[in-house]
Amino acid sequence: MPRSLVTGCAGFVGSHLTEALLAAGHEVVGVDCFSDNYPAAQKLANLARAREHTRFELHTLDVAAADVAPLLDGCDTVFHLAAEPGVRSSWGRRFASFAHNNVEATQRLLEALRERAGTRLVYASSSSVYGESERLPTPEDAPPRPLSPYGVTKLAGEQLCRVYHVNHGVETVALRFFTVYGPRQRPDMAFRRFCEAAARGRSIELFGDGRQSRDFTYVADTVRALRAAAAAPGAAGRAYNVGGGAPVSLNAALERLAAVAGRPLDVRRSGRESGDVLHTAADTARARDELGFAPAIGLEEGLRAEYEWVLARAPAQRSLAAAGS
Ligand code: NAD
Ligand code: UGA
Repeated sequence: MPRSLVTGCAGFVGSHLTEALLAAGHEVVGVDCFSDNYPAAQKLANLARAREHTRFELHTLDVAAADVAPLLDGCDTVFHLAAEPGVRSSWGRRFASFAHNNVEATQRLLEALRERAGTRLVYASSSSVYGESERLPTPEDAPPRPLSPYGVTKLAGEQLCRVYHVNHGVETVALRFFTVYGPRQRPDMAFRRFCEAAARGRSIELFGDGRQSRDFTYVADTVRALRAAAAAPGAAGRAYNVGGGAPVSLNAALERLAAVAGRPLDVRRSGRESGDVLHTAADTARARDELGFAPAIGLEEGLRAEYEWVLARAPAQRSLAAAGS
C-alpha cells in the first residue's frame, strides 16, 4: 500500500492533499505543529474528515526541531507543505518564524532523506520566488528575484532541495504554486477575506487599485499537480509552475464574486502592500508536458465553492446574506 508523509497536513492545501491520498487508498503520516499563523481550531477542523480514516496518523511536531527520521519509515513520498506562508506578514520580527519554518525545517527534512534512496520529496514552492517578472506568462527558467522576505525563504527552501539532489541524490521536485484558493483557504488570503465580507454584508478591503492580477489556482488542481509530481519519472531535480490557467485582475475577480454572492459588494481601497507583486501568470507548458498537468476548475466554479464553504461554516451568515440580497 502506498504510504506518504504530508508535512503541514492540517493546513489549507495539506488537508485537501491528505484527504485525496486517503481516498486513493494511501496510508498517510500527517505532521503539523499547529503554528500560530491562524487559530489551531481551524486547522483541527480542516482535518476532521481525514481523522475518520484508520489509514491516517497525526503527529503534532515541529519539523525543524523534532527527529523526523522514524516517520519516514516505509514512505515512498514526502509532500513537504509545512511552512510559514504569507507575503505581507513576512516583514519585521515575524521573519524569524519564516526562516525557522521555511528554511530550517526544509533542511532538516532533506538531511533525514539522505539515507532514504528512492523516497521522493515534493516541495511546495511559490510564484513568489519570481517577484515582479519581466516575462508573463513566466517560465521556470526566468530569473528568481523575490520581492518579499517570504519569497526569499521559499526560494531558499527550493534551492536547498536542488542542492541535496545534486550532492546527495535526494529525489526532490519543486512545484511553484500560484495563489491557491478554495474551501479552507487561509484567513489572511484575499478570496477568503472577500467571501467572509460578502457573506456578512461588510466592506471589502482592496489593497491598491485592483488592477493587480493573479493566476488563481483552485486547490483541487493543486492537489492533482502534487500527486502527478510524486509519480512522474524524470521529474527529480526539476521545478514546475502550477497555475490556474487564466490570470485575472482583482477588479474582475470581485465582479465574479458579486455575481456568485448575488449582491453588490462594498469595496474600499487602501494602499498597496509592500512585497505584493503586480502581476503573476504561470507558463505551465513544462508541467503539462512532463507531469501531464492541466488545470480543470475555472474561477467562477472555484469561487462559488469557496463562497458556499464560507456560508456553510457559519449558518447564521447564510440568513444574513439572504436577507441582504
Ligand atoms: P497553511 O498555513 O494553511 O498550512 C501550512 C501548515 O504548516 C500549517 O498547518 C502549519 O501549522 C504547518 N507548519 C508550519 N511550520 C511547521 C513546522 N515547522 N513543522 C510542522 N508543521 C508546520 O498554508 P497553505 O496555504 O496551505 O500553504 C501550504 C504550502 O504551500 C506552504 O509551503 C506555502 O508556502 C505553499 N504555497 C501556498 C500558496 C497558497 O496560495 N496557499 C501559494 C504558494 C505556495
Ligand atoms: C498567495 C499566498 O498567500 C502565498 O502563500 C503564496 O506563496 C503566493 O500566493 C504565491 O502565489 O506564491 P498572494 O498572491 O498575496 O499570495 O495571495 P492573496 O492573499 O490571495 O492576495 C492576492 C491579492 O489580493 C494581492 O494583491 C493582495 O494584496 C490583495 N488583497 C489581499 C487585498 O486586496 N485585500 C485583502 O484583504 C487581501
